[in-house]
Amino acid sequence: MSPTPPWNVRRLPGAEGRVFLVTGGNAGIGYFVAEQLSATGATVVLGSRSPARAEAATASIRARVPGARVRAVRLDLADLPSLGTAVESLATERLDAVVHNAGVALDDPPRRETGDGHELMFGTNHLGHFVLTQWLMPLLSAAPAARVVTMGSFAAKSERLDLDDLQSRKDYRPKRAYGRSKLAQMHFGLELDRRLRAAGSTVASVVVHPGGALDSLTPSRPPVHVRATGARLSAAPAALLVQGKHAGARPAVRAVLDPAVRGGQLWGPRVFGLRGEPRREAVWSHLADRSVAARLWDASCELTGVDPSTACG
Ligand SMILES: NC(=O)c1ccc[n+]([C@@H]2O[C@H](COP(=O)([O-])OP(=O)(O)OC[C@H]3O[C@@H](n4cnc5c(N)ncnc54)[C@H](OP(=O)(O)O)[C@@H]3O)[C@@H](O)[C@H]2O)c1
Repeated sequence: MSPTPPWNVRRLPGAEGRVFLVTGGNAGIGYFVAEQLSATGATVVLGSRSPARAEAATASIRARVPGARVRAVRLDLADLPSLGTAVESLATERLDAVVHNAGVALDDPPRRETGDGHELMFGTNHLGHFVLTQWLMPLLSAAPAARVVTMGSFAAKSERLDLDDLQSRKDYRPKRAYGRSKLAQMHFGLELDRRLRAAGSTVASVVVHPGGALDSLTPSRPPVHVRATGARLSAAPAALLVQGKHAGARPAVRAVLDPAVRGGQLWGPRVFGLRGEPRREAVWSHLADRSVAARLWDASCELTGVDPSTACG
């Protein structure tokens, strides 16, 4: 038997016949996840809240990847009641992977809420994907070995959840609320895998993070993203530390495609967790706290009225 070749981000294995969904696939890292997955021959569906931005992204992917099987569905993670309809519109009988990539990050106050009354970042990044997972589970279970890939963040490394104030009602600080929303997502991804294993499911849940991924280090994909020469030159020193969004996409792409990746693992960039080739990382110590994850899960069920573990079996 020949040894498994090392992972090569430029020579991805073929995935013809498989179906992948990328939330927020119309821009940023999600766009590049979708572009790279499209090159494997798989069908890639972009989940996007804007039909116009989705159209621009699918056109760009088709222009770069001959024969790309890419399409889009309308998906707004800030609108929880709409997510069942969004999943119906996928028009597929099985889903081989979903990349929970979409995310919103606010830099300044005031505190904002979704239409459902949840703090915007916690409500979109965590609760939106929590509810989406519930709706997707029958499609994921219909594939032979599907994966849920959740995009975390380095910003979550220094944060801790306040389980008594998940919605940042008492003391709202935008950067902290963002980091906590990403931490909630990462706890969710690991807890989901434990519940899937307990239920004997064929679905696996993997957590990834992109390192630091700047638009100014990202190649142009007009009209999705246009990088001016000035921005490119002034960002050059930053490339020592961080990377572009095309490279930030790679841990998620590997988590979708590499047969060696297992549920419950954490993957990120190789160099200080900020840039470079995707590699497995030890699960951060605070992420290994199962009691926090379980309490977050229960609180998320209460806030949304759904429990994805009921669909895990
Ligand atoms: N860039 C980094 O350095 C970095 C570092 C750590 C983690 N991350 C994570 O990586 C992911 C992608 O980040 P990015 O830098 O690529 O961000 P981005 O360029 O701002 O793209 C975010 C994507 O999420 C979509 N989105 C936002 N709110 C949504 C909603 N309510 N429903 C559906 N889609 C929604 C956006 O859609 P619109 O085009 O409609 O706005 C866009 O497609 C996020 O989860 C982020 O937290 C990024």
